[in-house]
Amino acid sequence: MTQHINEQDTQIDALDLPSETALRILQLCADVETPVSRMVNVLSADQSFFSQVLRIANSSYFNYPKVVHNIDRAIIVMGFSNLKEVALSIAFRPFFLEENPNVKFNFRSLWNHATLSAIVAKHLADKYDPDYADMYYVAGLVHDIGKIAASRNIPRDFYFLVEKAGKSRKRFHQAEREYLNFHHGDIGSKVLDRWQLPPALINMVRYHHYPEEFSGDAEDGRKVHLMFLSNLLAHFIHHELDNLDELIAMDPKLEDYFTLNSAEFKELIQEVTRTAEKRHSFLEIHQL
Ligand SMILES: [Fe+2]
Ligand SMILES: [Fe+2]
Repeated sequence: MTQHINEQDTQIDALDLPSETALRILQLCADVETPVSRMVNVLSADQSFFSQVLRIANSSYFNYPKVVHNIDRAIIVMGFSNLKEVALSIAFRPFFLEENPNVKFNFRSLWNHATLSAIVAKHLADKYDPDYADMYYVAGLVHDIGKIAASRNIPRDFYFLVEKAGKSRKRFHQAEREYLNFHHGDIGSKVLDRWQLPPALINMVRYHHYPEEFSGDAEDGRKVHLMFLSNLLAHFIHHELDNLDELIAMDPKLEDYFTLNSAEFKELIQEVTRTAEKRHSFLEIHQL
């Protein structure tokens, strides 16, 4: 049963890639300086993305008085930030929800967790690391992508661990470490490296359960710790974790990045929850 992470390399190579357009969108959204024109070119060149974006721009949600025929107009109608979130959802929802008959696992709830984590991460970034807000959104969306890779490449081990964690009330990443010597953050970081995403983002994914093990510079450290917190807050908002103080204590260095007293922290949680509800319903309303 025990494998080494390097044995996974060839298996990760074999992981089906999202479409070329999907990967391009991921790279552009993770890049802090993406010009609008490049995104327009990528979306306009792929008929399927193009028509899905236009369908959403023309939906009753935006209630735009004229028919939207092109991506430039779609950006005016929904705003560039919304367009990026919509494009990422079009790109990655099918990738997350692809049928996997070998594994009994709720991929729909993983997708919901991914979008919620993305929204929460972006909200925290807007406050604490605003120049990189888009990168945080992408990191939130893909932080658990290692679970997808594991479910497709080592389905028997993956299912065994899902059961094991459920029965022992261990958290999944702890069960993975115990039996595999690595966890889905390690696998995810390798996938994202193949997909040529920025190193800072790869570290956010790799260390999202073990931020204290990260030893790079302070700026990247902030991102790692914020991603750790975003993941926990997404679980908390979904009522999958309940003791906030315990949850925060899981990362002893978190206080280096947040100087909030407990009342301020509770206020932040309420704020994040409100944003998450609003943004989540925006993404769901289109049944992306
Ligand atoms: Fe995770
Ligand atoms: Fe997660």
